[in-house]
Amino acid sequence: MVFLPLTLLLLSFGSRDGAYAVQGNQTCSTADQRLQLGTYQFTSDCDAMWFCNSSSICDWKGCRRDQYPFGYWPNVTVPLRCPKGQFCPDEEDACQDVIPVGGACQLNRDDECEGPPDFKDLADHSGFGLNVNGSVCLNNVCMWANMTAGSPCVFENTGYTVYTTETEFIDIVSRDNCKLGLYCDGTSKQCMAQKDLSAACTADKECATFNCNASGVCDKPADTPNHVGSWVYIVVAVAIFGGMLVTLIGMFFLHRKQREADREKRLQYWREQNAFRQNILQMQETARNSLMSLPIGANGTNPNSQRNSLYSSNGGMGSDESQMPLTGGNKGSGLRHYVSDDGFHDDDGGVVMHSRPDPGRF
Ligand SMILES: *[C@@H]1O[C@H](CO)[C@@H](O)[C@H](O)[C@H]1NC(C)=O
Ligand SMILES: *[C@@H]1O[C@H](CO)[C@@H](O)[C@H](O)[C@H]1NC(C)=O
Ligand SMILES: *[C@@H]1O[C@H](CO)[C@@H](O)[C@H](O)[C@H]1NC(C)=O
Ligand SMILES: *[C@@H]1O[C@H](CO)[C@@H](O)[C@H](O)[C@H]1NC(C)=O
Ligand SMILES: *[C@@H]1O[C@H](CO)[C@@H](O)[C@H](O)[C@H]1NC(C)=O
Ligand SMILES: *[C@@H]1O[C@H](CO)[C@@H](O)[C@H](O)[C@H]1NC(C)=O
Repeated sequence: MVFLPLTLLLLSFGSRDGAYAVQGNQTCSTADQRLQLGTYQFTSDCDAMWFCNSSSICDWKGCRRDQYPFGYWPNVTVPLRCPKGQFCPDEEDACQDVIPVGGACQLNRDDECEGPPDFKDLADHSGFGLNVNGSVCLNNVCMWANMTAGSPCVFENTGYTVYTTETEFIDIVSRDNCKLGLYCDGTSKQCMAQKDLSAACTADKECATFNCNASGVCDKPADTPNHVGSWVYIVVAVAIFGGMLVTLIGMFFLHRKQREADREKRLQYWREQNAFRQNILQMQETARNSLMSLPIGANGTNPNSQRNSLYSSNGGMGSDESQMPLTGGNKGSGLRHYVSDDGFHDDDGGVVMHSRPDPGRF
């Protein structure tokens, strides 16, 4: 494992982009191992599955840091993570025992350092990554985060490059060996109590919430979820149900127009049918009347007697039929009544629709 001084890191340039990543069993240069400028990600000549060993050849990695490592072939056994009391260095060559206080460690690798006896009190569980198990790696030296208020402290400022869509800027992260709830003041180099909400500040580390906002005031934590008032929920609910209701009503009126058009068509059809029926009845009536008006005495001598008897037998049937149209006529007048009814009371259309006889499909 090779320890890299920060000055050397800052002088190295370029990025790892796979194009010249060296495969296994091929030569590499340990001098090319470095942390990338701005992101401080470890890179080497060798591709993801290999590290550059001391004979400058890419060899299989001996351990892994990530739970889900990237870049391994599916047919290759991924190396294990290191057990408790050991750590996997940035190179991922092999597991090593944790380093005691004063030993050399890699940037931001608090986990490489041995924990203090009172690690339970010193350990940070805030999620801000202040220390690991009570130990910190500052300026590549292992120490414990045990400094109390007013005592001298060590700090390390690291500038990370932040890339946004418009611009990029440096975000300085300051780490120190003060106990939880304290920060290392840059000028006095002493541990000081972190400030509460709304206190004036110059850096995130000064605030207990780790959020010193643009107006230089300790703000609530940056990951605080936004809460909306209950009126927003009410407005949204009203909008949803209102939208549904408006749609339903709109559809009702839209379809009512169509319903009325259909009903108008049906009425017209029935008027026609009724008119036809009346015409036929009238014709029948006229024919019967003209038969009735013929003289009865001429019956025997009339050369048209055959035709006449034919007519009379027809007339018998006709009288049968005349009974039918009479009942039918009642129906017809009922229909006419309905028609006029409908014409006068448009609103009752729906009710009348149920009670009227089925006009059939058309
Ligand atoms: C190197 O080559 C040997 C023999 O082909 C092979 O067994 C070994 O896995 C290779 N090592 C690497 C790192 O690819
Ligand atoms: C470096 O890796 C190569 C390829 O796996 C291997 O043959 C060689 O023995 C390794 N050197 C050391 C010092 O481990
Ligand atoms: C694993 O698969 C890769 C292709 O994905 C192939 O090039 C390589 O030879 C295989 N390696 C072993 C050790 O089987
Ligand atoms: C924390 O450090 C103590 C003391 O070195 C050690 O006994 C313990 O196993 C460590 N805990 C973890 C989770 O590493
Ligand atoms: C605090 O930690 C340092 C190492 O960083 C250690 O030398 C010192 O003894 C510790 N002090 C106490 C009171 O534990
Ligand atoms: C900073 O935080 C204070 C307190 O929460 C707030 O009043 C102020 O508006 C914030 N300023 C900015 C720029 O966000």
